[in-house]
Amino acid sequence: MKADLSLRPATLDDCNRLLAWRNDPATRSNSRNSSAVIAEAHGAWLRAVLADPDRRLMIAESGGEPVGTIRADRDAGGWELSWTVAPAARGKGYGARIVAAAMDGLFGPIRAAIRAENGASLRIAEAVGMTLQRRDACMTYWELRK
Ligand SMILES: CC(C)(COP(=O)(O)OP(=O)(O)OC[C@H]1O[C@@H](n2cnc3c(N)ncnc32)[C@H](O)[C@@H]1OP(=O)(O)O)[C@@H](O)C(=O)NCCC(=O)NCCS
Repeated sequence: MKADLSLRPATLDDCNRLLAWRNDPATRSNSRNSSAVIAEAHGAWLRAVLADPDRRLMIAESGGEPVGTIRADRDAGGWELSWTVAPAARGKGYGARIVAAAMDGLFGPIRAAIRAENGASLRIAEAVGMTLQRRDACMTYWELRK
């Protein structure tokens, strides 16, 4: 049986956890900006995201433990998703479940930009029904129209 999975809004109490996940080497190498983030900048970033009505930052939990995060940013073209599975929870299929759960609460076009070498996230985009729109030198661009 699959473990339960739920999403809740992130809060300032998630600051350290989100920073650790963001600075994990695999997360950095799969991010558009791969530099390490310092704590002060991260705190300011988190406060700004939480105050922005066009951004939704969620924490995924399973069995009462945080297993990942997903952010949805709204612009004129719809929503863009970014996701990270907690390092200890990777390889267990949480990624697709987190993305699908976040998509349930969104309406309009949903996009994701994924590095071409990020095989697991490419698979996740396919699994949740996104289709590849285009690619450039290092990124692939996916969309689902709801
Ligand atoms: C990438 C990431 C989100 C994957 O999440 P996950 O829950 O660990 O994913 P899984 O290991 O369960 O793999 C998901 C699917 O990809 C497949 N997969 C895993 N590694 C793969 C690879 N290198 N190439 C192709 N497919 C791969 C799995 O078999 C699985 O497919 P299935 O559901 O058909 O069995 C997670 O490792 C992570 O957070 N990495 C760092 C941050 C990051 O890359 N964020 C995404 C930016 S777009």
